[in-house]
Amino acid sequence: MNELTKVTEAPAVEAKKPVLPDAQTVTEVKHWTDRLFSFKCTRPASLRFRSGEFVMIGLMGDPHPETGKQKPLLRAYSIASPSWDEEMEFYSIKVQDGPLTSKLQHINVGDEIILRPKPVGTLVHDALIPGKRIWFFATGTGFAPFASLLREPETYEKFDEVIITHTCREAGELVYGAELIESLKHDELLNEVIGEGFWKKIKYYPTTTREESPKMGRITDLMRSGEAFEDLGVEPLNPDTDRAMICGNLAFNLELKDLFENTYGLEEGANSKPAHYVVEKAFLD
Ligand code: A2P
Repeated sequence: MNELTKVTEAPAVEAKKPVLPDAQTVTEVKHWTDRLFSFKCTRPASLRFRSGEFVMIGLMGDPHPETGKQKPLLRAYSIASPSWDEEMEFYSIKVQDGPLTSKLQHINVGDEIILRPKPVGTLVHDALIPGKRIWFFATGTGFAPFASLLREPETYEKFDEVIITHTCREAGELVYGAELIESLKHDELLNEVIGEGFWKKIKYYPTTTREESPKMGRITDLMRSGEAFEDLGVEPLNPDTDRAMICGNLAFNLELKDLFENTYGLEEGANSKPAHYVVEKAFLD
């Protein structure tokens, strides 16, 4: 062995071994407000999912006071990244006394989280019949599955128009969504696959309820009064042309379901029976 070989044969750094079951490594963390953060992690090599689905993620819980045993603490999280992305992204609320998010909000790059690679969910294109226009209705962290679907080429291949409404308490809670939508203009893959300027198909309608912003009010009230349709310059939802996905808090989901079925005449779909709209709860800690 000559001198040169010795230099190039520096001792290999031992790869960090996963210590958790289904461990993935955190690659990015962004805090948006004192109530919201997003993070990215590595993607399990074998994981295939459809944009809009969710998986169970979490951390190891505290040791049992008597046995000292630790059990995984898992919650359902919508995947916010699209199906083609190399990494996984999640968008989460921080609940100070929440069993999982009180801990999860402190993760850093390089930490490990548990990610069970079994994606499921109803907010998928397969659960809708073809249409002209697709509506995404979100409150709070319910934006997450739409962050995935807005980056999914199929959304633009299947629909001429994409309308995303996002209702939050405060203006700062809209920033994650607003930045994501802005980033689409520079998304190389989508501009190449769908065509330059594909993002002009998107109409974005953010509203706040507890802090002053350009558009105030719950989306449900703005639809009932007709103001939302006037602002957007579109006709109210119609089963011949419109398809919709809902993801928000329980009261919001129920109110929109009632509006869809009893005012606009839309029918709820499922993976096994595609129809006009689908709904999923934004999961809280
Ligand atoms: P509001 O401030 O009037 O309750 P949360 O953070 O509690 O999950 O709420 C997120 C957003 O969803 C808030 O702007 C909230 O408005 C709104 N919201 C709550 N319930 C409904 C509902 N039934 N219909 C429409 N928007 C709702």
